[in-house]
Amino acid sequence: MDQGQKPKFYITTPIYYVNARPHIGHAYTSIVCDSIARRKRMLGYDTFFLTGTDEHGVHVERSATAAQVPPQKWVDQVSAEFRGLFDRMNITYDDFIRTTEPRHQRGVQELFRRMKAKGFIYKGTYTGQYCVYDELYVDAAKPGDPCPECGRPTETVSEENYYFKLSAFAEKLLAHYKNHPEFIRPETRRNEVIAFVKGGLRDLSISRSTFKWGIPVPRDPKHVIYVWLDALINYLSAIGFGSRDEADEKKFQRYWPADVHMIGKEIIRFHCVYWPAFLLAADLELPKSVIAHGWLLFEESKMSKSRGNIVRAETVIDVLGNDALRYFLLREVVFGQDGSFSFDALVQRYNSDLANDLGNLASRTLTMISRYFNGSVPYPSPTVARKPSDDAIKEQALAVVAEVGQLFDDYQFSRALESAWSLIGSVNKYLVEQEPWIVAEKEGEEARARLATILYTAAEALRIVAALVHPVIPDSTGRIWNQLGLGDVSRFALADLKWGQLPLGGKLGKVEPVFPRADKTTIERMQQMEQEGSNQPSPAPSSPAPAGEGAHAGQPATQAAHGPTEAAPAPNAAAPNKDGKITIDDFMKVELRVGQVKFAERVKGTDKLLRLEVDIGTEVRQLVAGIALAYSPESLIGRKVVIVANLQPRKLRGIESNGMIVAASVGEDGKPVLAGFLEDVPVGAKLK
Ligand code: MSP
Repeated sequence: MDQGQKPKFYITTPIYYVNARPHIGHAYTSIVCDSIARRKRMLGYDTFFLTGTDEHGVHVERSATAAQVPPQKWVDQVSAEFRGLFDRMNITYDDFIRTTEPRHQRGVQELFRRMKAKGFIYKGTYTGQYCVYDELYVDAAKPGDPCPECGRPTETVSEENYYFKLSAFAEKLLAHYKNHPEFIRPETRRNEVIAFVKGGLRDLSISRSTFKWGIPVPRDPKHVIYVWLDALINYLSAIGFGSRDEADEKKFQRYWPADVHMIGKEIIRFHCVYWPAFLLAADLELPKSVIAHGWLLFEESKMSKSRGNIVRAETVIDVLGNDALRYFLLREVVFGQDGSFSFDALVQRYNSDLANDLGNLASRTLTMISRYFNGSVPYPSPTVARKPSDDAIKEQALAVVAEVGQLFDDYQFSRALESAWSLIGSVNKYLVEQEPWIVAEKEGEEARARLATILYTAAEALRIVAALVHPVIPDSTGRIWNQLGLGDVSRFALADLKWGQLPLGGKLGKVEPVFPRADKTTIERMQQMEQEGSNQPSPAPSSPAPAGEGAHAGQPATQAAHGPTEAAPAPNAAAPNKDGKITIDDFMKVELRVGQVKFAERVKGTDKLLRLEVDIGTEVRQLVAGIALAYSPESLIGRKVVIVANLQPRKLRGIESNGMIVAASVGEDGKPVLAGFLEDVPVGAKLK
């Protein structure tokens, strides 16, 4: 089939903000899209999978300023970090768009011009409350009121801006939701959006003049385009919108409208109200569907940089592999709802579903074929020594193929995997009941025919499962497929998946275990990596951290003990210059205070951490410090210590730590030795 005849499928992730390091919350959106894209490719769709980074706006400008690098350099670094992670995760995106690319700028200006030419953009003055953090005009707020999005105090501003006539689109949007129930999923989100639009739409300010880091308004470069309008247009600019080039125009014709915009539930209003209104204003078709997923929670709250409770995807990938993370997220989280991540649950799932169920099925089936049939797929006899249980597996396999497809295409990933695993469970049970290892000991034609049937049945079911779940766990199913002596599973035409396609007499590949079992040290290793990793510079080892993200380049003689003491984080954005020096202003940002330990105890489940309550003059702070190997809790009570007092809180073993204790790192093992004073010093005194 040539590409032109294939049906097309265009799927997008949101583009990721470059003011935070990527974590598994971001990885979740990408993994979901990647699994969908892989399945669509296997079903023969001409699939275009887009991801990228959202690089403009005041936050990014601020992060770059705090790190003392030009914004462009900053965004280059963080965007590369996202891309690098997605490459490591084997995310099969077809394009990675960056909003600082010229092709995107061209697309944004083109859409702006079109909307203006149609009379949907006008200039006006806004006087009222504004949240600098969210770049949001809060019409209903009074001076001093908090921002409804982030809770930070709003500022009073008076600004001349460009406005978009959003109010003109309420009826059209409501009609679209009504006529296209599939436009917003799940249903609950759809109802929320409808209620919001019915509540009335006000015109939207779509330019800013208080900062520069954005795309200039055509012919009025004092203004930059509102970051959400800028960002949403990535879905068009990446496929050629705004370009006069013939190939780009063709590409746009081919792929627009998008089939799926996959998003997190918090950005639904932008995608389901503003975005379709912008497109209607420019006479462009609307995307076919916007699918909202829930949040990944860690210890009950949304994983986010500001809460300091993130888990990095790299940690899981390094220790358990890509497929472990992908499987866990799709199996454990009910798609559309919030789901919890924990290392315990991850390892439990990994061991039970991957190592035990699928891993064992693959290794015992393939090992027995190697041993008893010299590594060639055996010929099952259609007549001799057949049992109803053989056909039962075949029938279940066919039912599972249909069910997995239906559930998967309905975004019910967890249930789809459950269905595939029901087949794995049945085949494992079948093997236990049929005891091929005992049949192999028996002599005679009939026993041989029975053995061939059992092992063929198991291998064929294994092949079917591997093809079905390949979009979710591509690495391991690729290996299983090779061990079955087959080619590239990603090129297999899933629509043709039937019983009986495993070539008889085919030679197996090298049989190796696919999922080595995890043991109790696995969790400790991941936790350790998280504690070390969260102290690592971001975005790249040689580059400074985003503002507010604890980071340090190099290993100083003194260290602050906030969690284990292996790394030495320094507080907010005290980023060194090229020669490694920081300014006095940088240093003054660090609030060092004398504190007195009031209470200390060991943190359960670790031998390194202590929980401390420290009086810092104005309040008693709870801290978690990685000093338990060097200091007993009793020896610390009453002791005066130095605290970094203005550090963002972070959770260690579920306990919030609000600061760090300063310690020297001594000897090869980096034993912490607490900083102290020879003279008596009052509690709360500042160090400078
Ligand atoms: N830049 C905007 C999107 C613009 S699209 C035109 C943005 N970026 S983001 O980096 O904050 O979020 C990108 C995606 O990551 C969203 O789908 C968001 O829901 C997802 N996640 C970030 N943290 C998450 C969790 N803790 N859990 C699940 N997904 C989360 O919004």
